Amino acid sequence: MNEQIVILDFGSQYTQVIARRVRECKVYSTIVRYDTPADELARLRPSGIILSGGPSSVYAADAPMPDRGLFKLGIPILGICYGLQVLAQFLGGKVERGLKREYGKGTLTIRDSWCPLLLGLPGTLQVWNSHGDKLTKLPKGFKSVATTDNSDYAVIEDRARRFYGLQFHPEVAHTPRGREIISSFVHGICSCGRNWTMQNYVQQAVEEIRAQVGREHVILGLSGGVDSSVAAALIHKAIGEQLTCIFVNNGLLRSREAEVVQDVFVRHFHIKLQYEDVARKFLDRLKGVTDPERKRKIIGKTFIQVFEEATKRAGRAKFLAQGTLYPDVIESVPIGGNPAALIKSHHNVGGLPKRMKFKLVEPLKCLFKDEVRQLGLELGLPQEIVYRQPFPGPGLAVRILGEVTAARLTILRNADAIVVEEMKRSSWYYKVWQSFAVLLPVRSVGVMGDERTYDFTVALRVVDSQDGMTADWVKLPYELLETISTRIINEVKGVNRVCLDISSKPPATIEWE
Ligand code: XMP
Repeated sequence: MNEQIVILDFGSQYTQVIARRVRECKVYSTIVRYDTPADELARLRPSGIILSGGPSSVYAADAPMPDRGLFKLGIPILGICYGLQVLAQFLGGKVERGLKREYGKGTLTIRDSWCPLLLGLPGTLQVWNSHGDKLTKLPKGFKSVATTDNSDYAVIEDRARRFYGLQFHPEVAHTPRGREIISSFVHGICSCGRNWTMQNYVQQAVEEIRAQVGREHVILGLSGGVDSSVAAALIHKAIGEQLTCIFVNNGLLRSREAEVVQDVFVRHFHIKLQYEDVARKFLDRLKGVTDPERKRKIIGKTFIQVFEEATKRAGRAKFLAQGTLYPDVIESVPIGGNPAALIKSHHNVGGLPKRMKFKLVEPLKCLFKDEVRQLGLELGLPQEIVYRQPFPGPGLAVRILGEVTAARLTILRNADAIVVEEMKRSSWYYKVWQSFAVLLPVRSVGVMGDERTYDFTVALRVVDSQDGMTADWVKLPYELLETISTRIINEVKGVNRVCLDISSKPPATIEWE
């Protein structure tokens, strides 16, 4: 179970993708900084090491370099792109600036089909390149086993030492056979088994949670989102009655959200749930507030207050559970030329105040989002929760422009329920990142029957995204748009117009606020 591949991060935007691809091969992987000392790496007892790509040039003065001892550990190494150049340069090869940058799709021609990394692949295949420098002289002991038009050394190997290098990116979708190459490295070359499954993880995590918590009590803030829900189900499996979940109904939730959470966690899982109905308090504090930043601040502050009081009422807990995920804890590598790596998620920063002296239980902290979903299914959570779209902490308040009032919340809730219902009915709900309604503080004239109306406008926002940082609007079929629009205008009192938001992020954001 402890078998793992360690990935040295040289600042590539794809480092986490490499880690996920390895895990898809059912082998555990961890990401560490590029300069982690060799003895520390040895202590992790990796079955193999992958050197990621990165934006630097190996001959630059400030190029990130690994500990030289890495190459003496006797552990198989795979260098990808910049990683190949690091490997080659350390072992006596030569890297130079290429005459032209090789970027985009390329064709790889395999020269030695017995190379353990390339076993089972056809003679030529499509690969994805993104590099300016290139290897011009092989290090001693290496040979080239595949080429592209632009490079004689697209894949290199030192079979005896089990060192391999790829000039292209096997981890991205544009290298369709890349998964097989990664699988050959981890299974064929590193001899890893297929032990990293969520079924195994449940057992391991349950033991770890029990060992950490002992006979103490744990509190968890349940939002109804995927992460806190999966954490709750997992911790409950480990310690049952010792877990108390606190669910705060801030009055800014979507239609039936509070009911679903109670239904799943209380009636199905029999989890102890402390339900805090504080809708009134939030609404009172939001009265007359129209500035988006002030709304967020008020909501954040009120939440912390309510939660702190609720934890006191919940009693003698020593531990606080959180659904922190692996991407939140990976130390990012601040390497020049890749500012995107440094832009951390801008929401939910801060967390709970330090005066709340809990020890943390974070059982999802080594998992990626897709693994958390699998884990949720493994634990018996319904699809409705496991595949739920992201929903902002400040809830519908960021989807009501202008003042948040009870009446406006009702309008938006009803409109949003229709969007969700129709998206699910047409199976589009699970194909997109988010799909929701926004209530604009704009009123316009309409006619309904013989009457003139003067009602609000709802905007429909449906986007595709990988991580929320960038997004595209989704081209839904006209028939579906028509059904959503007709239903909202007919069924939701107070709305006489529906618009479709066709802006991408950037420059727009996903939420309107
Ligand atoms: P924006 O609107 O910045 O949103 O494009 C990017 C993603 O983040 C979600 N979002 C939030 N999530 N707390 C959250 O947990 C928040 O305060 C928050 N604000 C926005 C948004 O729904 C989208 O998925």
